[in-house]
Amino acid sequence: LHPFKISEKGHLMVGGVDTIDLAKKYGTPLFVYDVSIIRKHARAYVDTFKELGVKAQVAYASKAFSSIAMLQVAKQENLSLDVVSQGELYTALQADFPTEKIHLHGNNKSYQEIEMAVENKIGCIVVDNFYEIELLTEILEKHETKMDVLIRVTPGIEAHTHDYILTGNEDSKFGFDLANGQADKAFLKLSEHKWINVKGLHCHIGSQIFETDGFVMAIHRLFDTLKSWKKVYDFQAQVLNLGGGFGIRYTDHDEPLPLENYATVLIEEISKEVKKHDMTFPEIWIEPGRSIVGDACVTLYSVGSTKEIPGIRKYVSVDGGMTDNLRPALYQAKYDAIIANKANNQNEDEVSIAGKCCESGDMLIWDIPLPNVEANDIIAVFSTGAYGYAMSNHYNRFPKAAVVFCEEGIDKLVIKREDYQDVAKNDLTYV
Ligand code: LLP
Repeated sequence: LHPFKISEKGHLMVGGVDTIDLAKKYGTPLFVYDVSIIRKHARAYVDTFKELGVKAQVAYASKAFSSIAMLQVAKQENLSLDVVSQGELYTALQADFPTEKIHLHGNNKSYQEIEMAVENKIGCIVVDNFYEIELLTEILEKHETKMDVLIRVTPGIEAHTHDYILTGNEDSKFGFDLANGQADKAFLKLSEHKWINVKGLHCHIGSQIFETDGFVMAIHRLFDTLKSWKKVYDFQAQVLNLGGGFGIRYTDHDEPLPLENYATVLIEEISKEVKKHDMTFPEIWIEPGRSIVGDACVTLYSVGSTKEIPGIRKYVSVDGGMTDNLRPALYQAKYDAIIANKANNQNEDEVSIAGKCCESGDMLIWDIPLPNVEANDIIAVFSTGAYGYAMSNHYNRFPKAAVVFCEEGIDKLVIKREDYQDVAKNDLTYV
C-alpha cells in the first residue's frame, strides 16, 4: 500500500533513513518526507506534457505544503508555483523561486498582496472577482507596469471525489460565473485595460478527484465560452489552467489514476475542442498540490497512554493529533498507519489512534488493525504530506512539529520544531 521500505530490523525506512532513528534524533510528532517521491511525481507531470509535445506549466499548489526547502525542490524540478497569499508569496521569494513562474490566487486578495505580486513581477495573477479588478487596475496604473492575468471561472462542475454535481447557478465563493455572464463582463473590463494582458481562463473543480470525467466536462464548458469570445471579440486563449485536484491514496479504498493519465486526458480533450472550433492550441497549466507531496510523507508519533473499554474499543493516544493533522477532525479523512518499529509484525490488535488535544473529535484513525501497541512505540501515519503541516495549528498551545526531508539515506531538518517560547511569542502582558 505505501511506497516505503522496511529494514531488516523491521523498521520503516523513508528515503533510505530509519524512521526510528529519526524519531530519536528529532523527537515526535515528526513529518518525514521522502524527497525522491516528490521528485518522481513532479517529473511524471512535467515529462508527460513534454513527451506529448504540449507547452505546459505544472504549478505546484504550495498551499498543500509550503516551506523554503519544499519550494527549493519545486524549483529544482522545474515546477511553476501557485501561491494564494502574501505568506506563500513571501516563502517563495525566500526560496528564491523564479518570480515569473509564480501565479497568485485568492478570492479576496488585498491591495498589499496584489502590490507585492506586481512589485516582484510575478508571472500571472488569476483574477477572481470585480473588486480585485478595481484594485489590480489601480495598482498597475500606479506602477505603470503590465501584468498577465487568467480569469478564474466557475464552470458549474463541482467534483466530490467520485460523483460530479452539475449546477446551473454555481454556489461558490471563487471566480466568475460562466452561466450568468459575469465572466464575459470580467473579460471586457480586463481586456480593455492597457496594463492588463488576458492570457486565458482558469478553473479548479475540486480536490481528491479520482476520475477524469469532471475535467472533461469542465473543458467543454470552458470551450463553450471561448467559442463565443472568439466569435464576438476575436479572442483566443493562450493559456488554459485546469487547476489541481488529482487524487491520491490514503487507504486501500482509494484508487488514484497514474498522474500521467490526467495529463493525457486533458490534452486529448483540449485537442478535440481546438480542432472543432478552429483555434490555436493553448498552453496547458495545471496546479497539483496533494498529488505532488501527499504520499511522500509519513508522520511519526510516540505512543503514550492506552485505554481499553472491554468489548468496545481500545484507545491508543499519541503525542500529536488535530494540531498536526486537522483532516480527520475537519473532513472525517481516513488514514492508514503502521507501527514503525514493528513494521514486520503480524496485526493482532485493533485500536483507535487518538490525538492529545482536549477534544473527543481529536481522533487520527478509528479501528485500525495493528501489532500489539505499547507505550513508546512509534506510529507512522501515511500520506500526510499535503494539508498536514500546512494546516497545523496551536490548539491547546502545542508547539508545531518539525519537518525532515530524507533522500538517498540522508536526513535534513527543514522546519524546526517549535518550543514553548514560540507558542507564546506574540503574547503581551495585561497587568
Ligand atoms: N488550485 C486551486 C485553485 C485550488 O483551490 C487548489 C486546492 C489546488 C489548486 C490544489 O488542489 P490539490 O491538487 O491539492 O487537490 N485542505 C483540503 C484541500 C483544500 C484544497 C483547496 N484548493 C484537504 O486537506 O483535503
